[in-house]
Amino acid sequence: MTNQSILQLALLFCFSTTALCINYNLLRLQQRNCNLACQNLLWQLNGTSQNCLKDRMDFKLPEEIRQPQQFQKEEAILVIHVMVQQIFALFRRNFSSTGWNDTIIEKLYVELSQQRDRLETALEETMQEENFTWQNMTTLHLKNYYFRIRRHLKAKSYSSCAWTVVRAEILRNFSFLTRLTDYLRN
Ligand SMILES: *[C@@H]1O[C@H](CO)[C@@H](O)[C@H](O)[C@H]1NC(C)=O
Ligand SMILES: *[C@@H]1O[C@H](CO)[C@@H](O)[C@H](O)[C@H]1NC(C)=O
Ligand SMILES: *[C@@H]1O[C@H](CO)[C@@H](O)[C@H](O)[C@H]1NC(C)=O
Ligand SMILES: *[C@@H]1O[C@H](CO)[C@@H](O)[C@H](O)[C@H]1NC(C)=O
Ligand SMILES: *[C@@H]1O[C@H](CO)[C@@H](O)[C@H](O)[C@H]1NC(C)=O
Ligand SMILES: *[C@@H]1O[C@H](CO)[C@@H](O)[C@H](O)[C@H]1NC(C)=O
Repeated sequence: MTNQSILQLALLFCFSTTALCINYNLLRLQQRNCNLACQNLLWQLNGTSQNCLKDRMDFKLPEEIRQPQQFQKEEAILVIHVMVQQIFALFRRNFSSTGWNDTIIEKLYVELSQQRDRLETALEETMQEENFTWQNMTTLHLKNYYFRIRRHLKAKSYSSCAWTVVRAEILRNFSFLTRLTDYLRN
């Protein structure tokens, strides 16, 4: 059997059984591990914001993200996916001024990209049946939030202080990701 026909069979199976198709419990476990690993790696990147107070900045998180209690699991996947993808893209930027350990950053890439791929697979399956009006606006706002972070880095010429502020921001983002992860349940 070719890969193509296996895929088609899998899709058929999805449509006939809908909710059973994504193993949310497994995805939650993988996401939880990813959150822990990433937080741990981010902690290992040295630097304190204390000398960098002047570079602090309010990146203005979108309002709808501040009220996570209303998330459906499909919405949670979508938001988590955007965050993981954007954080990955963020740390691809020039951090040479920070003296950060490349090995740690490399591990961060591996964690984030693996999880991004898993989320993408799950998303492809939910996309078929869901109503994406809400997600559309929220993902747009969320992407703008990360755009402001990148713009800030660029405006500060990727200075060590700017990165220190961004690292702290992203570390706090993971507390939010951890809360969101709990919405992934079968
Ligand atoms: C991190 O540590 C390295 C090596 O000890 C140092 O060169 C670098 O300046 C430190 N970075 C920050 C932001 O403190
Ligand atoms: C990265 O930033 C440093 C200064 O922080 C600069 O010297 C270097 O040219 C930049 N590298 C790239 C590839 O932009
Ligand atoms: C970078 O981190 C790795 C793994 O944590 C460690 O083995 C290595 O010694 C570190 N390199 C430097 C230059 O600190
Ligand atoms: C999609 O969501 C909008 C707003 O919540 C609602 O008005 C609309 O009926 C929904 N469409 C479908 C196909 O569920
Ligand atoms: C996202 O929004 C655009 C413009 O409002 C709309 O054309 C598109 O169909 C939406 N995408 C989804 C998946 O709902
Ligand atoms: C990122 O960190 C900030 C600073 O604490 C926090 O206000 C915000 O909720 C986090 N953003 C996300 C998307 O979790």
